[in-house]
Amino acid sequence: MSNQVESVKALIKLREKARLGGGQKRIDSQHQKGKYTARERIAMLLDGGSFEEFDMFVTHRCTNFGMQDNMFLGDGVVTGYGTIDGRLVYVFAQDFTVFGGSLSESFAMKICKIMDQAMKMGAPVIGLNDSGGARIQEGVNALAGYAEIFQRNILASGVVPQISAIFGPCAGGAVYSPALTDFNVMTKGTSYMFLTGPKVVKTVTGEDVTQEELGGASVHASKSGVAHFAVETEEDGLKLIRRLLSYLPQNNLEEAPLQSCTDPIDRLEDALNNIIPDSPNKPYDMYQVIGGIVDNGEFLEVHKDYAPNIIVGFARFNGLSVGIVANQPKILAGCLDINSSRKAARFVRFCDAFNIPIVTLVDVPGFLPGTQQEYGGIILHGAKLLYAYGEATVPKVTVTLRKSYGGAYCVMSSKHLRGDINYAWPTAEIAVMGPSGAIEVLYGKETAAAEDPAKFAAEKEQEYRDAFANPYNAAKYGYIDDVIEPRNTRFRVIRALQQLATKKLSNPAKKHDNLPL
Ligand code: HXC
Repeated sequence: MSNQVESVKALIKLREKARLGGGQKRIDSQHQKGKYTARERIAMLLDGGSFEEFDMFVTHRCTNFGMQDNMFLGDGVVTGYGTIDGRLVYVFAQDFTVFGGSLSESFAMKICKIMDQAMKMGAPVIGLNDSGGARIQEGVNALAGYAEIFQRNILASGVVPQISAIFGPCAGGAVYSPALTDFNVMTKGTSYMFLTGPKVVKTVTGEDVTQEELGGASVHASKSGVAHFAVETEEDGLKLIRRLLSYLPQNNLEEAPLQSCTDPIDRLEDALNNIIPDSPNKPYDMYQVIGGIVDNGEFLEVHKDYAPNIIVGFARFNGLSVGIVANQPKILAGCLDINSSRKAARFVRFCDAFNIPIVTLVDVPGFLPGTQQEYGGIILHGAKLLYAYGEATVPKVTVTLRKSYGGAYCVMSSKHLRGDINYAWPTAEIAVMGPSGAIEVLYGKETAAAEDPAKFAAEKEQEYRDAFANPYNAAKYGYIDDVIEPRNTRFRVIRALQQLATKKLSNPAKKHDNLPL
């Protein structure tokens, strides 16, 4: 056998060894926990046969604690590139079978390499996380490795989409890389994220808490908002990432891919002419409106279980990818509070960064009042959403369905925040506040002194309704471009988006903004 044949054989053997990661025993243990290995995950994520791996032969350089005798090819992370629906993406998958997926200096440099490539090529980065955090034996070199990744996450933010899946533990400062990315997907029951684990919590605060209660998928998807999606299985999470990417451009200089549309653009949705209840205090379901107007009723909701009084997500109009922001009258009457403001602000900023038009559906009675909100800083958090809409330069189409009161009127993509097309349904009510509150302020004393206070207040409320509880007062000033028939909303939004396709608008040059954090 020639030397060359020998060397090829040796290469094949090395590759086989590298593909085994931490060995069959640890792979079996990963499977027993209901988890896939790093390579299995990549295979499910990418188009078949498209993965090209980098740095399979990288090993760590640590000599502490006898580590020089404990080496694995690839050092616990699989990195490279491939395609999703034929479009280039960069990917890293932490391999829990090698030192628990813990991050060494070499491991970090592998991730940094693909992040640098992604920036040069203008393609998304997907990180599949499953790791015990900083590799303890490496000390500060592991911490340095994390910081190198964070720095790249920061520079890539708003340039290429960054998506994180959490498929296992994610502890300590390691959670900050996913936190810096655009979307986090977590699997229920097998993943968790926290800064300090239950044992440290117990020592410091005396609190008894399980890993799941402290940082499981449900907690982060509904309470903290750290996770944008909580999924049942890893397969679901990987499919979701593929679907999510279909709505996104490759980078901030491109548009999202236009898909062919099979849903007639002038489809009338008759149900919408009869969806608003007679009583202004009765809710209806905003999902019905969204489902009725977007292409084929398809909506990819983001942050479904977090601050459900506002709905955000991706859909298409005539094949064009858009971000939808909509108040949900069914929850807290659709008011804006701290969490809903933060949730929507982040979404609006994402869409703006990646050239995705924003369609806003408004039915908002105002900001949630009270000490809890004020002490929590609703002023600052509400300002975030205001800021996000005001700075956004992508096409902005707004439809006011019913209430649009007070500061929330200004915030929700109003004409004054450079809303491009602002429509209203005939049921829209645009005013400083709702009728009962307004009459209390304007006629409180007179009502109390009236012979029949209830009758007096009702008369005044009717007077107020006649003046403001309609869209025509705002339309009179040009703040509403047209009052439209609800069933025709799909067509009118599509026409508006078509008209706005060549929109050019930029903000004043600055180093960066000073968003109220
Ligand atoms: C080195 C590690 C490790 C780590 C796990 N391992 N974490 N090796 N550094 N951080 C190794 C284990 O020794 C073991 O090796 C293998 O990975 C699997 O770990 P197990 O404990 O057997 O698995 P499991 O029972 O599933 O528990 C997983 C775990 C636990 C919950 C992640 O290992 C754990 O608590 N690890 C430490 C987590 C942590 O505190 N990390 C530091 C966070 S601070 P063998 O050879 O037996 O297979 C941090 C700072 C970042 O990350 C700062 C950035 C700014």
